[in-house]
Amino acid sequence: MRSKIVAGNWKMNLSQSEAKQLCKEVNSLNIGSGIEVYIFPPMLYASDCKALATNIKVGAQNAYPKDSGAYTGEVSMWQLKEAGIAAVLIGHSERREYFGEDNALLKNKLEAALAHGIKPFFCCGEPLEIRQNGTFLEYVKSQLEESVFHLPASEFEKVVLAYEPIWAIGTGQTASTEQAEEMHAAIRSWVEEKYGKEIAENTAILYGGSCNPGNAQALFACENVDGGLIGGASLKAADFSVLVAEETWTILN
Ligand code: PGA
Repeated sequence: MRSKIVAGNWKMNLSQSEAKQLCKEVNSLNIGSGIEVYIFPPMLYASDCKALATNIKVGAQNAYPKDSGAYTGEVSMWQLKEAGIAAVLIGHSERREYFGEDNALLKNKLEAALAHGIKPFFCCGEPLEIRQNGTFLEYVKSQLEESVFHLPASEFEKVVLAYEPIWAIGTGQTASTEQAEEMHAAIRSWVEEKYGKEIAENTAILYGGSCNPGNAQALFACENVDGGLIGGASLKAADFSVLVAEETWTILN
C-alpha cells in the first residue's frame, strides 16, 4: 500500500511567530487515518517548527547538494539531516524558473538528499504552452528521465513524486480530475517500465496546483493521485484541515 500524503508548501510566507502558530495549529488537526502530513516552512523557521511538530513531519523547501564549504547562502542536505529535518522539495517550478535550476542540478540534489536519508519530494510539471501544444506527457517524462530514473530501485522507492502543472500553481486554475489522472497514470506507467509493478504500485504521486478544500476530494479520489502538495491552502489551518480530514479521503473512494 502506498502512502497518502498531504504536504504544505508555505513558500516565502509568514513571520516567525505566524509560522510557529500555524505549525501548532496544523500539528493539532484531526488527521485522517493513514495520512502523512508534512509542512515545508521557510528554512529560517524549520527548527522552530521541528520543535513543535509531534504529529506532522517538517521538510525544507530547498537544499544544496554539497555537504559543506564555500557556498554562501546555501544550506546542505547534511545540515538538514543534523537538524532533524525529514524531507526536502526538489525541482519545484519556482526554483527551476527563478533560480535557474536544471534537470542536472536536480539530479545532484536528489542524490544528496538520499545519501543523507532526507526524503525527497521531486516535483515535475509542464508550463502552459506545453500543455497547449499537447506534448505535456513527453515533457514530464523527460524531466523524470533526466533527474530521477537513473536511481537504482532501492533508492527510487524512497522518493515521493509530485505532479504540479505550472499553469495551475497559484492561479486558481486547478487541473481537472481527468487531466490529473491522465498524467498520474502515465507517471506510474513509466515507473513500472523502469522499476517494475510492485515499486510502481508503492510510489506516492502527489498532485499540486491550486488544490483546495473545494476540489481536493475529487482529486484525491482519482486512482493514481495519492495526495497533494499544497501552496495557498496550506497557509490557513482551517483550509488545510479539510485536506487532511478523513472525510475528504473516504467519501468518494
Ligand atoms: P498552490 O501551490 O497550491 O498555491 O497552487 C502549490 C505549489 O506550488 O506547491
